[in-house]
Amino acid sequence: MDKMDLSSRPELFDFHGVSMTHYFTDNWENIQKFQARPDDILIASYPKAGTMWVSYILDLLYFGQTSPERQTSIPIYTRVPNLEIIVPYLQPGSGSSPQIFKGSEMADKLHTSPRLIKTHLPVQFMPKSFWEQNCKIVYVARNAKDSVVSYFHFERMTKINPDPGDWSSYLQRFMEGKMVFGSWYDHVNGWWKKKQTYPNLHYIFYEDLIEDTGREIDKLCCFLGLSPSAEEKERIRGEVQFDNMKKNNMINHSTFRGMDFKISSFIRKGKVGDWKNHFTVAQNEEFDEDYMKKMKDPTLQFHTKI
Ligand code: A3P
Repeated sequence: MDKMDLSSRPELFDFHGVSMTHYFTDNWENIQKFQARPDDILIASYPKAGTMWVSYILDLLYFGQTSPERQTSIPIYTRVPNLEIIVPYLQPGSGSSPQIFKGSEMADKLHTSPRLIKTHLPVQFMPKSFWEQNCKIVYVARNAKDSVVSYFHFERMTKINPDPGDWSSYLQRFMEGKMVFGSWYDHVNGWWKKKQTYPNLHYIFYEDLIEDTGREIDKLCCFLGLSPSAEEKERIRGEVQFDNMKKNNMINHSTFRGMDFKISSFIRKGKVGDWKNHFTVAQNEEFDEDYMKKMKDPTLQFHTKI
């Protein structure tokens, strides 16, 4: 079977202690050799934390005014490539034979300054050049319950992910860390710990962005050393609102071939607390009990409602 054939779903396997699929490991050597530049900005997260939301905010902060055509002609996943992805794609005009899209090559070819690069890698998998170049990193984190719900719907619609199966077994797998990019618990804790020794890391919470997007944009600007005008910030805040992003074809992934929009949407619900529509009372109790055992660091706190 051709493993780049999008009609079959990939298998999860153990990769240096983390569950992964070949779509994120096949290009491993190039990923590890990736040459970061000092002004690169990395947006890191466990999947479904609001990565694209933050990517879009950063893209508008840096390039919203200087290259307006970028906003109308280049999909966000090309503007802010995922470093580790390797997937087939159909290039317009190339007939029916797919090319291979390698995130590391896309990132290499970006001619913006800074380059905005996205990753879902756990901290221990990061190419060392990002640390050597002391790049600025924005880590996006979202509470576990909404993350697992969002991930479930995403995997239902995304053929480059394993088949999620039914909700209750999916939730069990999440608790066991048997998800693409591994354990949510290890991921958020690993990057949180890194923040203690690496000051160029800004840790941002999805729930805070929902609560007050303007305040979080201010914090991002402070971290990045940017000082847009009040009007510009207000314009950005408006553009990145859920409804506007949902209908923006350069943002909503409608041009991405590996997703089935009949099943779900990439920009799906955008709420804190949607987990309540999915967890049963018993599932919630079991989840909370397990969570307490795994999340021992009192300095890392998530909100599951606002
Ligand atoms: P839901 O599935 O809960 O709706 P990522 O970009 O990391 O894959 O995260 C996707 C999640 O972020 C989805 O969550 C998506 O709807 C949400 N999201 C994207 N843009 C958003 C916005 N402007 N406001 C609120 N949520 C947003």
